[in-house]
Amino acid sequence: MLYKEQIELNRIPRHVAIIMDGNGRWAKQRGHERSYGHQVGAETVHIIAEEAARLGIKYLTLYTFSTENWNRPSNEVAALMALLFDSIEEETFMKNNISFRVIGDIEKLPTHVQQRLNTCIEHTSHNTGMCLVLALSYSSQWELTEATRQIAILVQQGTLSPEQISSELISQHLTTNFMPNPDLLIRTGGEIRLSNYLLWQCAYSELYFCDTYWPDFREEELCKAILDYQKRERRFGKTSEQIS
Ligand code: IPE
Ligand code: IPE
Ligand code: MG
Repeated sequence: MLYKEQIELNRIPRHVAIIMDGNGRWAKQRGHERSYGHQVGAETVHIIAEEAARLGIKYLTLYTFSTENWNRPSNEVAALMALLFDSIEEETFMKNNISFRVIGDIEKLPTHVQQRLNTCIEHTSHNTGMCLVLALSYSSQWELTEATRQIAILVQQGTLSPEQISSELISQHLTTNFMPNPDLLIRTGGEIRLSNYLLWQCAYSELYFCDTYWPDFREEELCKAILDYQKRERRFGKTSEQIS
């Protein structure tokens, strides 16, 4: 039986975050340049976004380019920026009622890419289906540093007292403040690490790692991860008896 047929549709994770890893290795394995892996990986983004929307996932947050990825060879960074510009498909989002958003240090991106992103965000903002979020020039440590700075300014100005600093207040100062925390975090490509992604937000997320390189990741793999998630008991620090 297909994984998709085994999923309980009334228990779909509300927010799924994905670390899309393995593009470079996928390409090299086939005797291609790393950038070819990114190209095929961009097609996977559209396939998985459409499937996630069909399944009823409300937020899909994709780690697309990290703060640390700026340190890659300049030709790879340039190829990634060009690809980003080319792969923002507003029509696909409109057709699937998807609203598009980005998180990260967007001002670091080339201006024409920023403009393209902003237009797409604006045009899709009234869509009521899934929210697709790309993390671009993003890292948790960057985000938490920014949040700390903003909170420090409020304290310095006297608008906030140190006693008012709570985990809720910190969450409100993060770039993810418009969505719930991820229920499920998936990493493709075989590495078992978080690479500076949503560290605060994933405090109680279910983690799922698979060996499949991102360009090969398909609908059934997503469903397999969701099925695995549905078999787990989320206890949030409580006992099993308290949950049931
Ligand atoms: C993920 O694939 C995409 C980005 C980080 C931009 P990689 O480019 O990291 O591919 P591998 O991990 O080297 O195979
Ligand atoms: C994480 O992948 C970042 C993205 C998927 C955008 P990396 O390939 O950059 O992570 P590391 O360097 O292997 O930890
Ligand atoms: Mg990688």
